[in-house]
Amino acid sequence: MGLKRVWQQAARGVEKVAQRIPAVQKRLEAEYAQVEQMVREQMRPKLDALPDFNELPDAGVPREQILDWLQQLRTQESPPWMQGRVSGTVYHGEPDLSEFLSRVYALHAQSNPLHADLFPSTVRFEAEIVRMTARLLHAPDTDDPEGQVVGTTTSGGTESILLAMKTYRDWARAEKRITEPEVIAPETAHPAFDKAAHLFGIRLIRTPVGDDFKAKLEPIQDALTRNTIAIVGSAPSYPHGIIDPIPQMAAIAQQYGVGMHVDACLGGFILPFIEQLGYPVTPFDFRVAGVTSMSVDPHKYGYTPKGLSVVLYRGRSLRRYQYFTYTDWQGGLYASPTLPGSRPGALSVAGWAAMVAIGKQSYLDAARRIMETAVAIRKGIEQMPDLRLMGEPLFLIAFTSAHERLNIYQVLDQMRQRGWRLNALQRPPGLHLAVTVRHTQSGVAEAFLSDLRESVAYVKAHPDEKGEMAPIYGMANSLPFRGVVDEVLKRYLDALYD
Ligand SMILES: Cc1ncc(COP(=O)(O)O)c(C=O)c1O
Repeated sequence: MGLKRVWQQAARGVEKVAQRIPAVQKRLEAEYAQVEQMVREQMRPKLDALPDFNELPDAGVPREQILDWLQQLRTQESPPWMQGRVSGTVYHGEPDLSEFLSRVYALHAQSNPLHADLFPSTVRFEAEIVRMTARLLHAPDTDDPEGQVVGTTTSGGTESILLAMKTYRDWARAEKRITEPEVIAPETAHPAFDKAAHLFGIRLIRTPVGDDFKAKLEPIQDALTRNTIAIVGSAPSYPHGIIDPIPQMAAIAQQYGVGMHVDACLGGFILPFIEQLGYPVTPFDFRVAGVTSMSVDPHKYGYTPKGLSVVLYRGRSLRRYQYFTYTDWQGGLYASPTLPGSRPGALSVAGWAAMVAIGKQSYLDAARRIMETAVAIRKGIEQMPDLRLMGEPLFLIAFTSAHERLNIYQVLDQMRQRGWRLNALQRPPGLHLAVTVRHTQSGVAEAFLSDLRESVAYVKAHPDEKGEMAPIYGMANSLPFRGVVDEVLKRYLDALYD
């Protein structure tokens, strides 16, 4: 057992004992109550006219009334993302594209590709989404079924990742008789890999990244065992927007005969265009020989409605391990390619329509504007002596404080008060802004930098102010007792449904 695991187990033991001490329990309850209160205050829609529905209404509410409520809520909730004040989240959001996609959705709202015979057009659109995505990521043009890049659409990045991991598990079980599968992923890889490990009985081994936030190669080599089924890399990672050294990682995977999954959920639809614009982009796609699968999200920088991702495999036989078929059910023969049974076909149709309506030129143009904005923001941050960039960013800019006297989470709170919603990073602490089309509007980058300057100055002048998120992130970042942090998260989820 590694030192890290010994330490984690010891910390869990100490934590369990500590939680039985009444004074500790009381203190923890107070901390938890604060989180619950914050969720209730911040995450409830503030519309007095909207009644609570805790059971079905006796008579249906008039449709006009419902539309009126929803319109009011939309008017209330859209300004932050519409005005480009939010990291990531809504990646395009221009009203004319949204209206077009809503019309497309309405046309196919009843469609369910589980019934391919009834909705053949949806099935065709899904297949074309997969082919267009594979081609964007340089799938080779070959007649060899094992060289072809194939895949399926899914409901989002998480499902694509879950499926890829399940696929490697079943592949390794069938072809290599591995019954205790292990996947190696850098610590920056998305938690969807932990979710996959949890669900599918895989051991996930997290390996360290360097000061540049790129996966280190040696620890990956060291973590390989005869149970390794795949190595994971990100293009780029969610926390810092950094592309892992995919060519070197894929070479290791190839040498040891294991899968190499590239998580390009965030970058798959923008990196090819950034590369075309001449910015330096580490090779990450199917041009790299050892890459055997990818997860790519049209619903991020592909600008399609939410609920659409693609999982791709090199080789038709690998995709077979993803499928689920059942031959003996009284309800008939059953075959489903992904996790759900019924699927919202309208989302695929709208996704296909977005991709076809936008086209390469507009994707390129959006990437150009996003990169120009990101470069301006990056340069602005570089000129702030109290802040430091985390790694060499492209379109997602992560930064932290340059010295211990500035609490970066207090900066997060100050930016929040000025209307910005940035993402908080931990271990090490930091913040990031994923630049989208929304931020390319005139004046947004300048407003961001000016508010950031003001926020930093405020925090320096008021270092002892408590703030909203700062205490929670401060605690989460510093506590070795992860059980307490885990309980905070579970209470947060409970509070969302209360
Ligand atoms: C790199 C990366 N992978 C996976 C995901 C998960 O995607 P989703 O939220 O669509 O499930 C994200 C989401 O931000 C991501 O940035």
